[in-house]
Amino acid sequence: MKSSVIIAIDGFASTGKSTIAKMLSSHYQIPFIDSGAFYRGITYFALENGLFKEGVLDEESLSTALENLNIRFHPNSSDLFLNGKNISDKIRLPVISENVSTVAKLPFVRDFLLRELRTMGSEKGLIMDGRDIGSVVFPDADYKFFFNARPEIRALRRYEELRLKGEKTTFEEVLNNLIHRDKIDSAREVAPLQKPIDAFEVDTSDISTQEVFSLLAKKIDTK
Ligand code: CDP
Repeated sequence: MKSSVIIAIDGFASTGKSTIAKMLSSHYQIPFIDSGAFYRGITYFALENGLFKEGVLDEESLSTALENLNIRFHPNSSDLFLNGKNISDKIRLPVISENVSTVAKLPFVRDFLLRELRTMGSEKGLIMDGRDIGSVVFPDADYKFFFNARPEIRALRRYEELRLKGEKTTFEEVLNNLIHRDKIDSAREVAPLQKPIDAFEVDTSDISTQEVFSLLAKKIDTK
């Protein structure tokens, strides 16, 4: 594999992108960045600072606030820091999942994060997962993968994850949220979720995590 390799993994919500990205990261010793964590972090900031008024986001205030926002992802721990504070356990809460796609469709939010995410390559390269990594953030990525899976399977996996963390939610709520986010993410004007033509598509519905990892590693090793 060449040095400074960039691996992009995009796809629908809860298809296992981050899990596989972390496995590839430890196998190839390349840093992993979860781009979704940044969109979740900005959503957390907006909610925490009362920028949603009666459910409507004050876009002007958020846009101004972004100028002074310091948002950092630590590749080793996968922790997200907002203005120095570790907010990793806050950004996966259902309330963030409910609002994140509304924040992520705003062009000024995408512009801000596009600039941040593009600076994150390292000497060894980068593995990044998200919705627009192979299409917009790193269109020249060396490897592009696109994940999909049946909605019920994705919802069941996410529901189990949340249940183990002690979150009070139901399978239906999780399923509806995934469908809702996919719809907004796919329909937005800027950087919509879509499979880049040169991406290798993987349906993770009926194969194990280990099998998905092996499939990707084989693709990477033989290209
Ligand atoms: O892990 P999960 O599949 O639930 O989602 P995530 O990767 O944490 O992303 C959360 C949300 O951030 C998505 O539903 C998108 O609205 C947004 N996102 C985006 O717009 N562009 C990215 N590159 C990554 C995430």
